[in-house]
Amino acid sequence: MKQRLLTGDTPTGKLHLGHWIGSLENRVQMQNDYECYFLIANIHAFTTRADKPAEIRQNTLDIALDYLSVGIDPSKSTIFILSEIPAIAELTFLFSMLLPYPRVMRNPTLKEEIRIKELGDNYSFGFLLYAVDQVADILAFRAHVVPVGEDQIPHLEMTREVARRFNQLYCDSDTPLFPIPEVKLGKVKRLVGIGHPNENGQLPKMSKSLNNAIFLSDTPDVISQKVKAMYTDPKRLRASDPGTVENNPLWIFHEAFNSDKAWVAEAEEKYRTGQIGDVECKKKLIDVLVALTEPMRQRRKLYEDDPAQLLKILQEGTERANAVAEETLAAVKKAMQQDFFYK
Ligand code: TRP
Repeated sequence: MKQRLLTGDTPTGKLHLGHWIGSLENRVQMQNDYECYFLIANIHAFTTRADKPAEIRQNTLDIALDYLSVGIDPSKSTIFILSEIPAIAELTFLFSMLLPYPRVMRNPTLKEEIRIKELGDNYSFGFLLYAVDQVADILAFRAHVVPVGEDQIPHLEMTREVARRFNQLYCDSDTPLFPIPEVKLGKVKRLVGIGHPNENGQLPKMSKSLNNAIFLSDTPDVISQKVKAMYTDPKRLRASDPGTVENNPLWIFHEAFNSDKAWVAEAEEKYRTGQIGDVECKKKLIDVLVALTEPMRQRRKLYEDDPAQLLKILQEGTERANAVAEETLAAVKKAMQQDFFYK
């Protein structure tokens, strides 16, 4: 029996290189070894964009297309939509009883989101609830492993706490219902964007809202333009000037994506000593990124031309996901002794 893997994305826009290196790459590789569930958390998008239903609907389909393009294979893995899984909503209510309110409020990812999105004290009740829903997303599938970016670790910690607490309260110690899920982080935990440092001198992480992303769906031309315009060492005016490799997106990207490690090591040395130009290094990076995304563009085209097929994959995935989530919900009610009408 394979172990279960579950992860997901909130549909806020198209997926980019940061998602690939932080999590998608792992997911594609782990498909053969785990029973995989990939969740499109459309309801989470409503926590801050309740006034934009049409956008969220489109973003949901975009994420599904991104999943299929990167190589998530619907014959091996299950892709599904959160709003179609009623058992998760029920589990959210039940699990919320196991989380003291101040515990949820201490979650640093929630705090950070309130800060960044400038929600002040105007966030909805549902905004806090989304973190509990995420606990239910993972536990509904009794997942063993959850590949996510670093920012999701606090949600995983809450999930582990709820799993332990549930097992302890309602299960015999030799037959716990929930495995304690493990986080699996990507090769690069926080990929920088292609833009300038912020006022603190730090390079912001790649994100759609900061307008500093290279999307997995970008065409070769767009990738080329973006890399050519990308921020590098501002003190280096010509190829003969010594350059700084550290904290330079050009080299961060080569180290993350270029599999020719010997070329990277040699070019970095030349860059430090003023023997290679930005143009040449950028050209190489363009080649690397276009090659990485080429199979993605090809797969994308197949599904783009066949939207009915895309919906069918989502519907079949959602059916399989519902079967598992319902089974968990029944086991949860039974453990909680609220299984009045089960035979
Ligand atoms: N919160 C995650 C994000 O914003 C998406 C998500 C929802 C998720 N449910 C999940 C990730 C369950 C892992 C497991 O990207």
